[in-house]
Amino acid sequence: MVKLAVDLGSSMTKIYRADTGNGIVLAEPSCVAVVGEGAIDDREVKAVGKEAKNLIGKTAVFTGIVQPVYEGEISNMRLAALMLKEFFTRIGLKKGALRRAEVLFTVPCGAQRKTLSDYAMLAEECGLNLRKVYFVEQPYLAALGGGAVLSDSEPVFCLDIGGGVSNVAVVSADGIIAGLSMNIGGSNMDANIIQKIARVNHLDVGALTAEKIKNEICSLSPNARGSMVAQGSSTDQRRPASAAVQANVLSECIRVYVDKVIEYACATLRKLPAEVAATVNRNGVFLSGGIMKIPYVPQYIGAKLEMRYRVCEEPQFASVLGGGALIRNKELLRKFAKMGVDFV
Ligand SMILES: Nc1ncnc2c1ncn2[C@@H]1O[C@H](COP(=O)(O)OP(=O)(O)OP(=O)(O)O)[C@@H](O)[C@H]1O
Ligand SMILES: [Mg+2]
Repeated sequence: MVKLAVDLGSSMTKIYRADTGNGIVLAEPSCVAVVGEGAIDDREVKAVGKEAKNLIGKTAVFTGIVQPVYEGEISNMRLAALMLKEFFTRIGLKKGALRRAEVLFTVPCGAQRKTLSDYAMLAEECGLNLRKVYFVEQPYLAALGGGAVLSDSEPVFCLDIGGGVSNVAVVSADGIIAGLSMNIGGSNMDANIIQKIARVNHLDVGALTAEKIKNEICSLSPNARGSMVAQGSSTDQRRPASAAVQANVLSECIRVYVDKVIEYACATLRKLPAEVAATVNRNGVFLSGGIMKIPYVPQYIGAKLEMRYRVCEEPQFASVLGGGALIRNKELLRKFAKMGVDFV
């Protein structure tokens, strides 16, 4: 029987196949391109995933790019279902196999009933059997997928910064002791980079360019020195132009959001019972999410929290890897998962 873990991230959907030993079978941008005029729901779909992301900022006015999962919530059910169905097709799953499949979805820490019932509706739209659909909160999975050893006596402090959501939580083998998710992530940093380049370099750059700049030259190192030539359009003359952008000028665009997440992390730590706090302090923080790939972000977080830190080997995939491990383990699954069928 097919067993999958699905992480519908704000920027990237990841799917892990647990019954075949194939591991991660899909990682594609959570994007859909639609054409036509009027309401999004009346438009025709032009591209999904990688192909759709490549169109961002390059299409005619009547083509729109939709992120159907935004900041951890399903913001457009029709397009989210269409996208996920297409991803299932891309990994070779047909209707019958989906009906029989066991599927675990990662959900943000502290996800409310409304969010879970949206996920259940989405699963049903995709032809899954809700009796075999599970929801598990992200921090627990990130810890598991990142290789943390969870026990009742040694809680793990996890912090994940993704594309649209950050999760902070203290988890133990018993569940989540304290935690929250917030709508802060890489997209905010990209938007901030766009504004800064417009101000400093008088250049308008698109979202894809901003993301590339962030991922290729940005760093929180005190001696960030990288630079690159960004292409865009001049803010005053409105014609194609380029400018050399400097990493040290852009660090601030990232730091403000990392600082916000740290602020929430500190608030979470303050709520901990004394013994748990002592353990967390001794064991440090466990870091995941794509933003940990930006140089010196982990070091910066460790220094600010005054704790040791450990970064998951594949920070972007920690949650889906954890999902893959959990769906293979009936006992843990029973303990930690909420059943899809309870949310219709
Ligand atoms: N080397 C890199 N490769 C891919 N993404 C990177 C890299 N460095 C930084 N990022 C950024 O990491 C973010 C995506 O991280 P991740 O895949 O963990 O998010 P997500 O799970 O899709 O979203 P969320 O969990 O917030 O809903 C994006 O902002 C992306 O630009
Ligand atoms: Mg994520």
